[in-house]
Amino acid sequence: MITSDRAAELFNDSLERCTAGDEFLDRFYELFLTSSREVAEKFRHTDFPKQKRMLKASLYMMILMAEGKSEIQKDLQRIAKRHSRADLDIRAELYSLWLDCLIQAAREFDPRFTPETEMAWRRIMAQGIAFMQSHY
Ligand code: HEM
Repeated sequence: MITSDRAAELFNDSLERCTAGDEFLDRFYELFLTSSREVAEKFRHTDFPKQKRMLKASLYMMILMAEGKSEIQKDLQRIAKRHSRADLDIRAELYSLWLDCLIQAAREFDPRFTPETEMAWRRIMAQGIAFMQSHY
């Protein structure tokens, strides 16, 4: 089992390689929106350039969350509230689809992606996703 520091480092470096070009998040949204009609419907009115900037920032927040930095909770709370039943109404089940599409895009765009990198992505995301789901 890799340490959480090592997972954070692997995830951060992989994310940097993925986001060095513009196409990683385009590919993620292409995969995610075609994976389910429910997902496509949710993003019907989305301004994607803005959405991609916000998603990228939130992926870095996942590292701080995984490291137990409480300062980040306020930002994540706002994002979680936006995804909750009362607002966007994102069901808990959609998060595993979201993560699988994100990891598939990372596999395609990170030239150094390995099974260890995938474990790091899953480990860093797990806490943030659990947080979002628990605020549904
Ligand atoms: C941990 C996982 C996720 C993270 C970190 C995340 C992050 C974000 C962020 C930062 C925003 C922008 C919020 C704002 O406007 O202030 C957003 C919006 C949104 N997210 Fe997520 N998200 C996640 C999972 C999901 C999932 C599973 C869905 C399922 C469909 C989803 C659907 C949406 C939609 C529909 C919007 C609004 C788009 C719009 O403004 O038109 N998200 N997300």
